[in-house]
Amino acid sequence: MHIKDVATQLNTTARSIRYYEQKGLITPKKETQNDYRTFTDTDILRLGTILALREVGMSVEKIKHVLHNPNMSMNDYLNIQRSALFEKWMEMKDMIRTIDKMIAQTADGHYSASEIFGLSQHLKNLKGLRKNWEDKWNFDKQAFDYDQNIKMAGYRFNVHQDYEKALSKAADMMNLENNDMCADVGVGTGNLGARFLHQGVGVIGIDQSEEMLKVCREKHPDIETRKGHFLALPLLDQQVDAVVSSYALHHISDSEKILALEEMSRVLTDDGQICIVDLMFLNEAHRSQVINRFQAEGNTEAIYAIDDEFYADQSKLTDWLKTNNYTVKTNQFNDILSMIYAVKKP
Ligand SMILES: C[S@@+](CC[C@H](N)C(=O)[O-])C[C@H]1O[C@@H](n2cnc3c(N)ncnc32)[C@H](O)[C@@H]1O
Repeated sequence: MHIKDVATQLNTTARSIRYYEQKGLITPKKETQNDYRTFTDTDILRLGTILALREVGMSVEKIKHVLHNPNMSMNDYLNIQRSALFEKWMEMKDMIRTIDKMIAQTADGHYSASEIFGLSQHLKNLKGLRKNWEDKWNFDKQAFDYDQNIKMAGYRFNVHQDYEKALSKAADMMNLENNDMCADVGVGTGNLGARFLHQGVGVIGIDQSEEMLKVCREKHPDIETRKGHFLALPLLDQQVDAVVSSYALHHISDSEKILALEEMSRVLTDDGQICIVDLMFLNEAHRSQVINRFQAEGNTEAIYAIDDEFYADQSKLTDWLKTNNYTVKTNQFNDILSMIYAVKKP
């Protein structure tokens, strides 16, 4: 088929097709006498894929990887693209909310430059918070032997003490039925999410680590895995009946945790449930008391481990949930491990 016919068939222009050829995405045969391009059925299918990926916002460079990298599937790339679009969407939402506030402040024809500037700085901080998180623990590298490692107690400090008990308690607390949808954020290898599958609950496992998602898929093919972040969950508004998360929230800072709760709340249905099992202290006084004890015992292993992560202050999380119309219950398993279970009031 010639270029004009291909363009018509694919609802594009000959110019775009030549551009993708120039960028090395397609290589149609050229007739030697007149340089006319001839497109085979395979060329047309490939071009259709390129156009589809462009339409969902993927860059030409990324598409090149999709088409040439044998180690990653089309599905992997689409997953990454969806995660990037959700991050953009969150950023747009923050910007629109800020503009709304600016419009409200200037509605009477006057405005305070410092207030407008203040709003813009708040927005800048939010953008920073959403973008600056990095995986300093290298979860991709931990994925392969994660399940093995959690069974091995630390020398003088075992963060996984009561792990099984806590996950079972979380699963018992949740009130889910056949066909309900549950998102497990920071799903890792799927140890919590998988506990809902036998009830006919649809589980979406979300994680920033592709390697963790890969192991999760291998162990539990029925969990739908999505690449994504606590601060931009790859879910639409009110898409799930429950959000669960175990041993993951302590990888984001305190202010990020509040944004994460907002995100969980956004994706939950009206009477949705949240269950968080994580390393946390009950409040600041409890944090000091536990840390002082470790110090007195000379337990540097514990002090280092706590310093390296962001153990929550449970009272701040429960305060946020109560203020935002949730009924909250908590359960403490040991000095550093607790559960928060919250139900949205209709
Ligand atoms: C210690 S593992 C816990 C895995 C699993 N939930 C469990 O209970 O065994 C922490 C997981 O949280 C994920 N994680 C950490 N920070 C995250 C973030 N900001 N957004 C999404 N996932 C995150 C990591 O990639 C990792 O898979």
